[in-house]
Amino acid sequence: MTAEHRVALVTGGASGIGLATCRRLVADGFVLAVGDLDANGATDAAGPQGYAAVLDVADEASVDAFVAAAVAKLGRIDVLVNNAGITGDRTATVLHSTPVTEWDRVIAVNVRGPFLMSRAVLPVMVAQGSGHVITIASVAGQVAFPGRSAYTTSKGAALQLARSIAVDYATSGIRSNAVCPGMAHTPMTSWRLDVPELREQIEARIPLGTVASPDDVADLVSVLASDRLHYMTGAALVIDGGYTTL
Ligand SMILES: NC(=O)c1ccc[n+]([C@@H]2O[C@H](COP(=O)([O-])OP(=O)(O)OC[C@H]3O[C@@H](n4cnc5c(N)ncnc54)[C@H](O)[C@@H]3O)[C@@H](O)[C@H]2O)c1
Repeated sequence: MTAEHRVALVTGGASGIGLATCRRLVADGFVLAVGDLDANGATDAAGPQGYAAVLDVADEASVDAFVAAAVAKLGRIDVLVNNAGITGDRTATVLHSTPVTEWDRVIAVNVRGPFLMSRAVLPVMVAQGSGHVITIASVAGQVAFPGRSAYTTSKGAALQLARSIAVDYATSGIRSNAVCPGMAHTPMTSWRLDVPELREQIEARIPLGTVASPDDVADLVSVLASDRLHYMTGAALVIDGGYTTL
């Protein structure tokens, strides 16, 4: 690995927004470390130059082992993309109907996950004197999604985690920003978006008239990861076709 290579670590890179982000960052010249529950998908996303392994972001031992192996293999981490996330299954709806186990699972992946990942990666970035943590939150962290109590709560927390890192690590040369997508068409949302009537209902509420593609979100991550916006930290960048502007 030569010094001119920048290294990005992407969680949940096997599917959807994470996969589109991996493809974009490879095209941008990054060498990738990709972790996902889906090991084969992570390997495909990382490409021949990258490092890939099975990773459960909610599990401390899994996270610590993955980050240690990625640093041993690639030498540094310039960008961490906290992307892995879940909405919870169909029982995770309004608050009083949400099973405690499902609540805990959503919070574990969407909040404990970025916490554990950032906790493992920040010492590496502090030692480098530079780094950028990019957390894929959601507009659900800013406005409430109806019938998605656990998810909405978790994304609000993820957003605050991103801001907390921005404040605490700025003097170490580390920036932290959150990306807040509106609805994007990925395997997470296809159960709704593949039903034409449901898709129509959703798109009728979006000023630009369409849901995002995973590439639309990856474009924003690519710009952030490029360091061109080097004065930006602690920001919550909304990319939602105008959904939250209405
Ligand atoms: N799709 C949307 O409309 C949308 C909107 C706003 C925000 N987001 C956020 O974007 C991120 C990516 O969502 P997506 O739509 O691409 O989802 P997706 O379901 O297509 O992909 C998620 C990936 O994360 C992996 N993953 C899940 N749990 C994991 C864990 N514990 N450890 C490691 N990997 C794990 C999955 O295996 C999968 O590869 C999530 O954080 C999601 O909340 C999505």
